Amino acid sequence: MEPVLRAIAAGREAALEELKAFLRIPSVSGDPARRGEVRRAAAWVAEFLRGLGCRVEVLETPGHPIVYGEWTGAPGRPTLLTYGHYDVQPEDPVERWTSPPFEPAIREGAIYARGAADDKGQVFIHLKAAEACLRAERRLPVNLKFLIEGEEEVGSPNLEPFVAAEVDRLKADAVAISDTAMLAKGVPALCVGLRGIVYCQVDLQGPATDLHSGIFGGSVANPANVLCRLLARLTDEQGRVAIPGFYDDVRPLAPAERDAFAALPFDEAVYREALGVPALDGEIGFTTLERRWARPTFEVNGLHAGFTGVGSKTVLPARAMAKVSMRLVPDQDPDKLVEAFEAALRRLCPPSVSLTVTRMHGSRPWLMPTDHPAVQAAARALERGFGRRPVFIREGGSIPIVTTLTERLGAPILLLGFGLPDENAHAPDERLDLDNFYRGILTIAYLYRELT
Ligand code: BES
Ligand code: ZN
Repeated sequence: MEPVLRAIAAGREAALEELKAFLRIPSVSGDPARRGEVRRAAAWVAEFLRGLGCRVEVLETPGHPIVYGEWTGAPGRPTLLTYGHYDVQPEDPVERWTSPPFEPAIREGAIYARGAADDKGQVFIHLKAAEACLRAERRLPVNLKFLIEGEEEVGSPNLEPFVAAEVDRLKADAVAISDTAMLAKGVPALCVGLRGIVYCQVDLQGPATDLHSGIFGGSVANPANVLCRLLARLTDEQGRVAIPGFYDDVRPLAPAERDAFAALPFDEAVYREALGVPALDGEIGFTTLERRWARPTFEVNGLHAGFTGVGSKTVLPARAMAKVSMRLVPDQDPDKLVEAFEAALRRLCPPSVSLTVTRMHGSRPWLMPTDHPAVQAAARALERGFGRRPVFIREGGSIPIVTTLTERLGAPILLLGFGLPDENAHAPDERLDLDNFYRGILTIAYLYRELT
């Protein structure tokens, strides 16, 4: 391992320059205008993998390409499949960034850019670990397969059918994913559960055109008023979701799981302070970690209606729109919940507006056992990389493909997250801690060894 460690240490500066080049590509998968940029990011990953000596294919889909690469020079040894995504979330509100989102900048021991933590920086950790091992030793202790997609941030619509159709090609003894976070700085974590999600757009149409709110107000429904009323009725004072049937399939937390969460080094006061909120909030009867990791939620992600410019304008808007999501826990089903959601809205919606619910994406919740030998191997690798035994955590976010990978490949999924909870994924000033970046590379190099 010594030569590998030397190669990693010697390559630190160069690694940052390469990562910057990757982060400069604005691969926003949800923005049709960025289609070419998303392709450029795919090509960048493919090129890097080719440089490692991998057999690489850039697979076209109706959406963004899937990059697949493999290095099979260790016959008889285990195979590790690494999954990640090269697409990123939109950068807006762009004016809230300290430095431009696609001009990576290094400050205070971190690299700032959209995608630094989620997920280009973390994908790059795996690329650099493979590179260091290959440079130092000309071979790897395991076979590697890389599956790097460009549609994770829009729900992985084309990866699902790809995985289903290519089970043989993707066969592996374990799957490694770095797209989550550590529990805190200095506290490495293995994530064993993710929430699912279902995302919808709600449109209300009132009059054919915007109207003067004085002349017409009071005589026709105002879609903005109606939308607020509808959405407000979907959660209650107890912090519970008021959609009939919403909790029907929720698996209660076992007392042992509640105890394990409570034993983690997590301080609610520090958390509250870091977020800058006057008080924490959520479903009564549950702790903050339980609320984030093991309870379902309903969230309004965005609202749009009427006049939102400077000054005032008296207007009764013709339309109102909301983007909403529900985070799901075992054993809730996205399809069932979209139906329950739409049914609840239709029951509440007055006849004076017309309602459209459009489902955008959905993915199921995921939970895995911690006693698999590969999970223990990952724990040892994290301990070597970070000098501290990892804790087992869940996350509240979603990675749509994990349930499909679990079911189709039957392999254990190792979520080794190198981000930090306060690194602003999906928000302005997203960053990745550089110390975690280097330790991540070490950890993955150790993981190859621990898996054999
Ligand atoms: N990296 C995140 C998922 C994540 C974030 C897991 C933090 C755990 C902690 C991923 O890129 C992501 O943002 N996923 C989306 C999925 C959705 C768009 C289908 C999410 O969770 O909102
Ligand atoms: Zn993300």
